[in-house]
Amino acid sequence: MLCLGIETSCDETALALVRDGALLDQVLASQADTHALFGGVVPELASREHYRFIGPLYDLIQKRNGLRATDLDLVAVARGPGLLGCLLVGMAFAKGLVLGSRAGLLGINHLHAHLLAAGLERDLPFPALGLLISGGHTHLYRMESPSCLKILGRTLDDAAGEACDKFAKMLHLPYPGGALLDALSQGVEPDRKLFPRPYTRNATLDFSFSGLKTAAAVCLAGRPELIAAGKQVCANGVEASTEALRRVCASYVHAVADTLRIKTELALDLWPGMELGALAPKAVIVAGGVAANTTVRAVLGECAARRGLDLILPSLRLCTDNASMIAYAGWLLGRKGLRHDLALSVVPRGHTVPDNDYVDN
Ligand code: KG4
Ligand code: ZN
Repeated sequence: MLCLGIETSCDETALALVRDGALLDQVLASQADTHALFGGVVPELASREHYRFIGPLYDLIQKRNGLRATDLDLVAVARGPGLLGCLLVGMAFAKGLVLGSRAGLLGINHLHAHLLAAGLERDLPFPALGLLISGGHTHLYRMESPSCLKILGRTLDDAAGEACDKFAKMLHLPYPGGALLDALSQGVEPDRKLFPRPYTRNATLDFSFSGLKTAAAVCLAGRPELIAAGKQVCANGVEASTEALRRVCASYVHAVADTLRIKTELALDLWPGMELGALAPKAVIVAGGVAANTTVRAVLGECAARRGLDLILPSLRLCTDNASMIAYAGWLLGRKGLRHDLALSVVPRGHTVPDNDYVDN
């Protein structure tokens, strides 16, 4: 089964081809430089950029693989959550391809695709605990199978990636800040007491990072030299950073990672049937842009090892938005015969992606 994946939910236009569970090719155009000028993603600009790039990217992947539209068995498209205009560009393109070929159509939950992406690199065991940490979402899932993911907890306000990006913005670091915080934190011992582990003294699996942001704003208000150092990095690159700036970044990132660890441990403690081997999770699967973070990978790695659990992390290029994960999730569901029809609509951020609105085919 040959599946084309289309990803346009935020600021990456991407296409990928998966045949029988293996990645054949992928192309991606990032809009990061365009949005950096504005300090964040501008939705109207993002959809215009998708509209500009998607055709040429399709031509490229088609030529590189000697592909005719009629070779496709399935077109899998990210249906949400994401930015409305952006999703519509991918969806319209997918439907056009389906109309011009014999391929089936399948709308993919972008968040589920993140969590399943590591399946391109190794077998995923089920049931598993899933932790999705991206720019817009921080969700814990009970993953029973590739098509059955149940939410256990979610962020009540900012997502982990957003918390990183906003801290970077407070420091006047360039957008997108998450990866830069990571670079500045490399090899630096964090001050574990500087920032709180927000919303962890409770028994819920929800997250809230707003307390951490407030603590960071208070800390920076008293230390203008850190903001001056951030401006230097913005002007002259990471080499211009000071030791104090690197330490505050490492401490903040550690607070994010440790908060994720605390809630992950709680989810394992609360897992029903934990003591019954067959029902217990076989692994912790971590995915989304923030799963690329060095500290997050290390802290969650230690946590899983203490629990005797396998920690599954996709390679870095599969953590951030890409179409390989959409094509792979499409192949996983498509081989079970699941399809949507041309009435398929997109699901913007803030709305719930339906779980089971497939059509008979
Ligand atoms: O999954 P993703 O690419 O897009 C969404 O679906 O949101 O995640 C993007 C988020 C951004 O907030 C970005 O700053 C963050 O992931 N991010 C990182 C790192 N790489 C990307 N955050 C911390 N450390 C990183 N290395
Ligand atoms: Zn994403």
